[in-house]
Amino acid sequence: MKCSKILVTGSRGQLGRDLMDHLPRTFDVVGFDVDTIDITNIDAVAAHVKRVQPDVVIHAAAFTDVDGCETQEETAMAVNSEGTRNVAAACHDCGARLIYYSTDYVFDGQAEEAYTEDDLPNPQTVYGRSKLAGERAVAAALEEYAIMRISWVYGEHGTNFVKTMLKLGRAQRQSAADGKTVDPIKVVNDQVGNPTWTRDVVRQTVTVIDRRLTGLFHATAEGICSWYQLARDTFEFRRMNAVVEPCSSDEFPRRAVRPALSALENARLKAAGANDMRDYRVALKEFCDDYEE
Ligand SMILES: NC(=O)c1ccc[n+]([C@@H]2O[C@H](COP(=O)([O-])OP(=O)(O)OC[C@H]3O[C@@H](n4cnc5c(N)ncnc54)[C@H](OP(=O)(O)O)[C@@H]3O)[C@@H](O)[C@H]2O)c1
Repeated sequence: MKCSKILVTGSRGQLGRDLMDHLPRTFDVVGFDVDTIDITNIDAVAAHVKRVQPDVVIHAAAFTDVDGCETQEETAMAVNSEGTRNVAAACHDCGARLIYYSTDYVFDGQAEEAYTEDDLPNPQTVYGRSKLAGERAVAAALEEYAIMRISWVYGEHGTNFVKTMLKLGRAQRQSAADGKTVDPIKVVNDQVGNPTWTRDVVRQTVTVIDRRLTGLFHATAEGICSWYQLARDTFEFRRMNAVVEPCSSDEFPRRAVRPALSALENARLKAAGANDMRDYRVALKEFCDDYEE
């Protein structure tokens, strides 16, 4: 049987690197990032996709600096909306399926329980609006696509909350060893979500491809926690005695407003019998056991 050819965009990013490293070898995987092709360049994207002739494009490239998007709206829309439209058009022209990663930021975060795919988006940030525009571009251009909304992503590569906590924990341990004052690590306790390991996103993506699932899917880890609880779980699984203190979002004002409730329910994956996502604690423990700093 011919093995599927997969083209990954954003291949040097946090998720892109894990896709390149951990997609099964039964796929023929190639990737590119902005150093070789800028997705805002429609001709370059079209020519590259035509040359590669992929069966599936996994689109992980994005402008992901949520606060930066607030001051660089034009770039955010160019990359996340128009760039995605360019990728979708190239898929249409060569008959490839498209997997597009979207985000919990498409919601306003004011709900009382986890959002399902049937809930209406109401983004409160430029990033959220640009990613939602990307979703709409994909759905308008293609029939063969899957939009996977993920959230609170962490993994081995790039910058993320879990790695930042480990760094702060190490700095705190060093301060204690040096006899200096140990300041608690303050972490917000009034935003909740589903912390999701990149490796689990890779596995779920494979299922979406293998099952040829089409449409919009929430695809986050099971289980909801606050950032504060996530910090505590991380230190527990890493066996670090860090001093952590809960605080409110008001103590950490950010340019882009963060949703109070980021939790997503994988309703459609479950309905299709295709939800591979594990409890976030199980995945986080495995990450903490394996991660080499
Ligand atoms: N991280 C999260 O918590 C999270 C949550 C929900 C959804 N998502 C979505 O998941 C996907 C992957 O996220 P991630 O965490 O892996 O992000 P990431 O680490 O920022 O990776 C994105 C990659 O895209 C590249 N890129 C930026 N502009 C580009 C352009 N014009 N042309 C081509 N490539 C470009 C980036 O390069 P540079 O770094 O050089 O700019 C980077 O290598 C994104 O669609 C994101 O919106 C992420």
